[in-house]
Amino acid sequence: MSWRVTFTDLERSFEVPDNANLREACLREQIPLYRSLARVTNCGGRARCGTCRVTVESGADQLSDPTPPERARKGDDERPCRLACQANVRGDVEVRRGW
Ligand code: FES
Repeated sequence: MSWRVTFTDLERSFEVPDNANLREACLREQIPLYRSLARVTNCGGRARCGTCRVTVESGADQLSDPTPPERARKGDDERPCRLACQANVRGDVEVRRGW
């Protein structure tokens, strides 16, 4: 089983296997998830830097629930955003980088 991830800001989409980590899939597909120096200074997927943020435009319920570190980082922010490193894909989703 595989799912389609679409980055609307890049007009790119790709298939991922069920439960694939979104950050790892982006790296594999050479999606420029990180901007500027964050390409080398990001936390490596430990929910510490926040530079892998994506805004979920559709399919939010197709991503795994936010992890405790992600919830702590997000706080009361109501925007439909996720940390790609903390989101596993369980259905088709459309996202864009940042928020
Ligand atoms: S890679 Fe640092 S928070 Fe996701």
